[in-house]
Amino acid sequence: MTLVPPGVRETVLLGPPAGRSVPVLFAEMHGNLYVIPTGGRGGWIAQVLRVGYAEVTTSDGRTSRWAARLSLDPSEMEAARVALRRKYGEPTWSRYFAGHSKVLVLAPVPPRAARSPLEWIQEEFDASAAEYDRRLQTMPIERYLKARTLDTFLERFRDCDPLLEIGAGTGAETLPLLSAGHTITAVDISERMLAELTRGAREGGWLGRLSVCKGQLGNLSEALAGTPAGSFGGAYSSFGAFNLETEFGRVPGSLAQLVRPRGWLAFTTLNRPGLAPLAWEVLAGNPLGGLSRFGRRIPPERIRYPLEIQTRPPGAMRDAFAPWFRPVSMSPVSVLAPPFESPRMLSWLSARGVMRLQHLDQRLTRLPGGAALGEWVLLTFQRTDAPAPPVPL
Ligand SMILES: C[S@@+](CC[C@H](N)C(=O)[O-])C[C@H]1O[C@@H](n2cnc3c(N)ncnc32)[C@H](O)[C@@H]1O
Repeated sequence: MTLVPPGVRETVLLGPPAGRSVPVLFAEMHGNLYVIPTGGRGGWIAQVLRVGYAEVTTSDGRTSRWAARLSLDPSEMEAARVALRRKYGEPTWSRYFAGHSKVLVLAPVPPRAARSPLEWIQEEFDASAAEYDRRLQTMPIERYLKARTLDTFLERFRDCDPLLEIGAGTGAETLPLLSAGHTITAVDISERMLAELTRGAREGGWLGRLSVCKGQLGNLSEALAGTPAGSFGGAYSSFGAFNLETEFGRVPGSLAQLVRPRGWLAFTTLNRPGLAPLAWEVLAGNPLGGLSRFGRRIPPERIRYPLEIQTRPPGAMRDAFAPWFRPVSMSPVSVLAPPFESPRMLSWLSARGVMRLQHLDQRLTRLPGGAALGEWVLLTFQRTDAPAPPVPL
């Protein structure tokens, strides 16, 4: 939520339909209200975005319904930042808003239709695309996790081009794999994430070995229509798509179509409950977030990310892929990493302490049974010779 500093009076109350409203700071431009959501958990903002509108109570006590969307237009976002900064002053700006990238736009027009869960996910990632890499630079834990999965992908996929990546984002793993000489087809639900990836590949000089495709994991047959069966020597996905997809039923079968016999499949899934992150949540004073780790679905109110997460634990994944993929390995991406960034903890540990912990972490991830501990598990499979189901491709 956008915090309201003491002494600042000019706020509106904003909330989801029939939900609890919170006071927020806002800028007004061209009849729209602009809010930069900061801090707090996913909560109300996620609900507002899901239904597409918010109840706004102005200082005269009147409540009305405003259509809500995330801004995708960089010049609109910049204008909102400038207006908020001017309105509330530099100290409030730098204390509450600097470093937060999304801009919520409220318009006094009839609300648009509620989004489907996947439209909502797409909008979330479209809205973060331009800032995604810059934010990643400020998140050492995320970078460490991605470096670990990348190591596995580089080793596993050494001789099995071409590769298929699903949920490639801006290319945290795609770009290093391209740089290592691989040929990749990258599928992602967010066109803007794919545009960032394409830009990165162009800058690296690898565009000739990258194809991008807007599409959804749950409907690869549409995204990759016309692709011959067995086209890929390996497929992979990390940190998102496998736990955000709401239509998972056809995923194993369509991957069985696309990956050739003896080809490889590697992806991360969220571990439940994940003993180490559970302990971190409790230590950080978020026991409800910890409790939600036992559920099949993590609602956005309980986590720091305003998206609904489908927990598909490793055992369920292995069962779903069993007819066509033989499980080869299952290891935690990390055991010790907290499920959130903690700059205070990192500065307390110092660079040397962090390096030591990373070495220890890497050893712990190799322990038998270690997979029960961490937040993310990396599963690898090999395609068997079993014929793929007749999934239309
Ligand atoms: C958190 S990002 C991670 C991107 C990248 N793998 C990384 O590690 O940086 C998740 C990505 O998956 C995409 N995504 C989410 N759900 C998806 C789905 N069902 N099908 C395809 N892509 C999806 C999002 O648009 C986003 O780009």
